[in-house]
Amino acid sequence: MTIYLNGAYLPIEEARIPVLDRGFILGDGVYEVIPAYSGRAFRLGEHLRRLQHSLDGIRLSNPHSEAQWVEIVETLIARNEGEDQYLYLHVTRGVAKRDHAFPNPSVAPTVFAMSSPLPTPAPELLQSGIRCITMPDNRWLRCDIKAISLLPNVLLRQSAIEAGCSESLLIRDDSFLTEGAASNIFVVKDGVLLAPPKDHLMLPGITYDVILEMAEANAIPCEVRRIAKAEVFSADELLLTSSTKEVLAITTLDGKPVGTGRTGPMFARLHQLYQDFKRDVMRK
Ligand code: PDD
Repeated sequence: MTIYLNGAYLPIEEARIPVLDRGFILGDGVYEVIPAYSGRAFRLGEHLRRLQHSLDGIRLSNPHSEAQWVEIVETLIARNEGEDQYLYLHVTRGVAKRDHAFPNPSVAPTVFAMSSPLPTPAPELLQSGIRCITMPDNRWLRCDIKAISLLPNVLLRQSAIEAGCSESLLIRDDSFLTEGAASNIFVVKDGVLLAPPKDHLMLPGITYDVILEMAEANAIPCEVRRIAKAEVFSADELLLTSSTKEVLAITTLDGKPVGTGRTGPMFARLHQLYQDFKRDVMRK
C-alpha cells in the first residue's frame, strides 16, 4: 500500500511521524473519507470543501490548493489496488513541544493520505438490515467539524458492538436525533423521508446530500427538520448513510423491531436509486 506523507509517496511500512505530532498527542487535526468508484473520487469537490470547512473550524490553514489535493487523490488511487477504493485524508497542526495552545510561531502541518479497497455492504446486511442502539449524544458542540479527536465516537460505536449491534443512534439532550457515531440517520414516517438539519450538531454528510437530492429528483416527500426522540422509536423505517456504507436499513433498535422489523419500501427505493446513480454517474 502506497501512502502520501508530507510531500512523499511511500510504502505504508516506511511511513513515520514524530511522537510529538499534535495529532498523536492532542488529537489536533481533521480528516476526510472519500469513496472512489472505478478510479474516480466521488464528489471530490464537495469533500474538499468540507475539508476546508473543518480546517477553518480549527483555524488551521489548508496546506494544499485544490489542484494539489486532486493530484494526491488521483496518484493514490492509481498506485493502490481495488476497482473501488476509499481515500482517507488527514491534516494535523504539526510537530511541536507539547502545549495545548497553538505553536507560536506556527509549524508545518502534517499531511497524511491513503487509499484502501472499498468493500460493498454485504448482501445479507442489505437483505436483513442492521441492528442499532440509541445512546446519549455526549460529543462536543462542533460535530460539523470532521475532527480526528474521535474518542466519543469510538466509545459510542464500541457500545453498539458490545450490544451485538452495528451503530449507535445519537440522541441529544434526551430530546432529538442528531446522527450515528460514524453515519447520518434518516427516519421514515407515513411515506415521508425525515432528515435532521445540517447544523453544528452533526457532520454534513456527502451521502446525506445524495439521498436528499435523489428524493427530490424522484418526488419522494421529504422534510429536513429536528426529529424528536419519540419519532425515532415510532418510525416506519430508519436508514443509515455514509460514504463507506452507502445506504442501509436499520431493522432493530434497542432490541425492538423498527416498523415491521424488515427492510421497507423507502429503503428499497433509495437503495435502487443509489445503485443506479453509482452505475450511471459515479463510475462515468
Ligand atoms: N464517517 N457522521 C459522522 C459522525 C461520520 O463520521 C460520517 C462518516 C458521516 C457520513 O458522512 P459521509 O456521507 O460524508 O461519509 C456522518 C466516515 C465514513 C468515517 O469516519 O470513516
